Amino acid sequence: MTDAPNPLSLAEFWMPFTANRQFKANPRLMSTAEGMYYTSVDGRRILDGTAGLWCVHAGHARDEIADAVGRQVRELDFAPTFQMGHPLPFELATRLTALTPPTLNRVFFTNSGSESVETALKMALAYHQARGESQRIRIIGRERGYHGVNFGGMTVGGIVNNRKRFGPLLPGVDHLRHTLDIPRNAFSRGVPPHGVELADDLERLCQLHDASTIAAVIIEPVAGSTGVILPPAGYLQRIREICDRHGILLIFDEVITGFGRCGAPFAAQAFGVTPDIMATAKALTNGVVPMGAVFASTAVHDAIVQGPENVIEFFHGYTYSGHPLACAAAMASLDIYARENLLTRGAELAAIFEDAAHNLRALPNVVDIRNIGLVAGIELKPRAGAPGARAYDVFNDCFHNRGLLIRVTGDIIAMSPPLIIESGEIEQIFETLAAAITAAA
Ligand SMILES: Cc1ncc(COP(=O)(O)O)c(C=O)c1O
Repeated sequence: MTDAPNPLSLAEFWMPFTANRQFKANPRLMSTAEGMYYTSVDGRRILDGTAGLWCVHAGHARDEIADAVGRQVRELDFAPTFQMGHPLPFELATRLTALTPPTLNRVFFTNSGSESVETALKMALAYHQARGESQRIRIIGRERGYHGVNFGGMTVGGIVNNRKRFGPLLPGVDHLRHTLDIPRNAFSRGVPPHGVELADDLERLCQLHDASTIAAVIIEPVAGSTGVILPPAGYLQRIREICDRHGILLIFDEVITGFGRCGAPFAAQAFGVTPDIMATAKALTNGVVPMGAVFASTAVHDAIVQGPENVIEFFHGYTYSGHPLACAAAMASLDIYARENLLTRGAELAAIFEDAAHNLRALPNVVDIRNIGLVAGIELKPRAGAPGARAYDVFNDCFHNRGLLIRVTGDIIAMSPPLIIESGEIEQIFETLAAAITAAA
């Protein structure tokens, strides 16, 4: 006689960024995934409108990635990269720098977006120190920014719930205003026309703190987690100019924009603005193995990597930086991205995606729609006294009744499907959403 399997207990796993008690009372559980679809534990097909969590750009369960990881476990499961090495991260770094803007040609590996952000911030501080400008200790973030959950990222981030319970955070950080301006820019297609002057906040902070105390500015070219906020036309260029004028490093957090989301390999290329440091993670391995990569310019790298040759130049790293399985998954992902032109596919589909998203404009309670590449944000009017409830109802309805995975933050719906999506699936996503938004009126 075999024992009956234990029924699944939901108590022990303390879920991240989840209303745990609400979830456990009415769970949403996936069991398998393939291509554009998940299957829920009760056997329903769920169209993946969010590429998992903005990371499965080539769709789910790609054989090549599974095979590469499986082979790698048997060949070299782990090798340290502290004072030791193995060929894979070197090979991966070379391949990645063929995709980045040419000046961003040194790569530091991490395991997540949060770690990529911390790494980028530490590089900025170490750069100025190494150049004899150790008074440059301030870092400027932006309101509503999301840069992960570690102390540096939390501090430069600008989402109040992510910050308010965790003490005074790091000293020496200030924030630009965010660029969402619904009264002036509602229903803009692509980058909004108004708001370039918000970049001048940086000039003001230079006056306030003295530019010579500022090490870096970190921004998401397109803010994702806060609900899809786009840079106004000319904004990123102006931020770059102000940084250059004052010797401040520009860090782009491309954790969600990297690897094709905006229609070019990186948002830096989509917007024609090159940062000095670029933090990436999601989609690097198609979501299969945790991994991040921070790209630095040669100038940043060379300033830090100097001094006596027997001394470690940058006292920073993770046990799993350049992990063999992550490298294998990343290289197999890059093969697929290249073969299927996924890093630029967002540009080809952008017009169809944009039209489909903006078709929701006339629905009840839709106050704004924002889009670029294969990202769309649909902002709903909150119910009186119940912020977030309307979008949460849409989310639940889509999952439980309509076979669609969406993502919501507050009353904003964010769509970011795998880049393999076909036009029929784009239609399906937005028609389903339309029905659910109407039902939540
Ligand atoms: C812009 C940005 N930076 C950093 C992060 C943190 O990444 P992770 O959750 O992998 O630590 C995220 C995650 O959504 C992000 O969107």
